[in-house]
Amino acid sequence: MDVLIVPDPGAVAREAAAAVIAGLRRADGDVVLGLATGSSPLGLYRELARLAAEGTLDLTAATGFALDEYVGLPSGHPQSYRKVLLREVCAVTGLPPERLHVPNGSATELDALEWAAAAYEDEIRAAGGVDVQVLGIGGNGHLGFNEPGSSLASRTRVKRLAERTRRDNARFFERPEDVPTHCLTQGLGTILEARRLVLVATGEAKAAAVAAALEGPLTASCPASVLQWHPDAVVVIDEAAAAGLRHRNYYDAAALGLHPTG
Ligand code: F6R
Repeated sequence: MDVLIVPDPGAVAREAAAAVIAGLRRADGDVVLGLATGSSPLGLYRELARLAAEGTLDLTAATGFALDEYVGLPSGHPQSYRKVLLREVCAVTGLPPERLHVPNGSATELDALEWAAAAYEDEIRAAGGVDVQVLGIGGNGHLGFNEPGSSLASRTRVKRLAERTRRDNARFFERPEDVPTHCLTQGLGTILEARRLVLVATGEAKAAAVAAALEGPLTASCPASVLQWHPDAVVVIDEAAAAGLRHRNYYDAAALGLHPTG
């Protein structure tokens, strides 16, 4: 696991974009990008958009896979993750909207949602897997919408959102009661199969979750701790989000690379 601690959210966006692009460069053929939503990756997506606009990055043949989707939002709701990713990624980076995959959370029956979850796993597999998965972290340590207690081997499925997650996400909705109670989320086992993970976090509200994920035990109580199990996880955080880390000096030294003076 590489941990990069940088001064501010702008630097997080730039370093995370560099980590994403380095991961995509290793891909065989057309690239497959896994996309988180929420506030954390927005700066990273703007940076990818800037690089695409200046011609340094070409995502016009890329495929995107959302990490998760709410269940039960009316189709076209501005906070559905399909809409968010069309707006924040496809419209600005050149990733074609028709190559954006999002779990279908429109069904109301459990059977149909379970079918949609299994179909999503098939879509990821058919695309050859995810080259780089962008991730945020919940204040309670969730990854995707894998809330505390999620199986470390879980696949895409229906999950109930934790009350804390619903409260945290109420800022995106008109009224707190409008936040859906359920979602479809890639499982932790699904996420672990991506060839590179790039997690971004900023601000002191994430410091405890970041410390638990990076330096606590590997446990379902902190789903983001599965990063420790992944062979190519890059964590890019600002000073505030790094405040709880005990091995800070080591991360900073390791980030200097093999030839720190050369
Ligand atoms: C988003 C997702 C969540 C968020 C997390 C942090 O697709 O699955 O895990 O990454 O809730 O959200 P923000 O970035 O809004 O603090």
